[in-house]
Amino acid sequence: MSRIAYVDGRYLPFREAKIHVEDRGYQFSDAVYEVCEVRGGRLIDERRHIERLQRSLGALRIGMPMSPRALGVVLREVVARNRIGYGLVYLQISRGVARRDLAFPVPEAAPTLVVTARLLNLARNEALAAKGIAVISVPDTRWGRVDIKTVGLLPNVLARQAAIDRGAREAWFVDKDGFVTEGASANAWIVTDGGALLTRHADHAILRGITRMVVLDAIKAQGLTVEERAFTLAEAYAAREAFVTSATQLVMPVVSIDGRPIGDGKPGPVATALRREFHRYAEAG
Ligand code: PDD
Repeated sequence: MSRIAYVDGRYLPFREAKIHVEDRGYQFSDAVYEVCEVRGGRLIDERRHIERLQRSLGALRIGMPMSPRALGVVLREVVARNRIGYGLVYLQISRGVARRDLAFPVPEAAPTLVVTARLLNLARNEALAAKGIAVISVPDTRWGRVDIKTVGLLPNVLARQAAIDRGAREAWFVDKDGFVTEGASANAWIVTDGGALLTRHADHAILRGITRMVVLDAIKAQGLTVEERAFTLAEAYAAREAFVTSATQLVMPVVSIDGRPIGDGKPGPVATALRREFHRYAEAG
């Protein structure tokens, strides 16, 4: 079955799904995006993803191309047309098409909206979670507003590739003061020797992950201790457990950082339990 994408009002086979060469997303990464998990054909945490999308658009002064309700209809239609049971739906909104010039176009261009969806392999993801992933650390060379979910992901691309080149799966960014910010495509967490969960406070140096928020709810409901504060790479090396969270990986145990085993080098009980419980706390729509 050929994949279908939504591009500015039309549902098109992939080979016809194209963007103009002067789209500002293509020219300048002047665009934002969201990725939502699809499970049992339903969108997970759609409301919070759309809220974050609106915050990203607001920060960049890009207009919402349609109402959140209409956007929800398009997302569901793309999921249905691609017959996604388990997978992800991706949406991107750019500032639109205009003659190449850094300044915002005058008059305003209509924002470009693209939606795609694809299947993920549940068995493969679960097998990966049962084994855990290796992480490397890299300097955080990103701009100062990574809380805005823009498609400008070049440092993340290079970080992920550096991880793969070193036989790992994810990279953790470390700021100039030695504190871990987040992963190339996920938020970073550790469990300290005393059993407290740590994840960086949501400042401008991390993306405020939706999975992170759901996991915070799960942790609080279970009476576990959590601190939202920056932690150093040294604290991470000495942690009892480590894991990452994202819409597509959920709670993914980290078993080594820079080649050093974390805890006993196996997925930890806290991460494993949070992964198992995750969907009790997420919203399925
Ligand atoms: N990545 N931090 C970064 C840099 C991310 O790219 C992501 C998500 C997250 C986690 O956010 P959430 O829990 O809302 O997925 C944190 C998506 C999945 C991606 O780029 O594919």
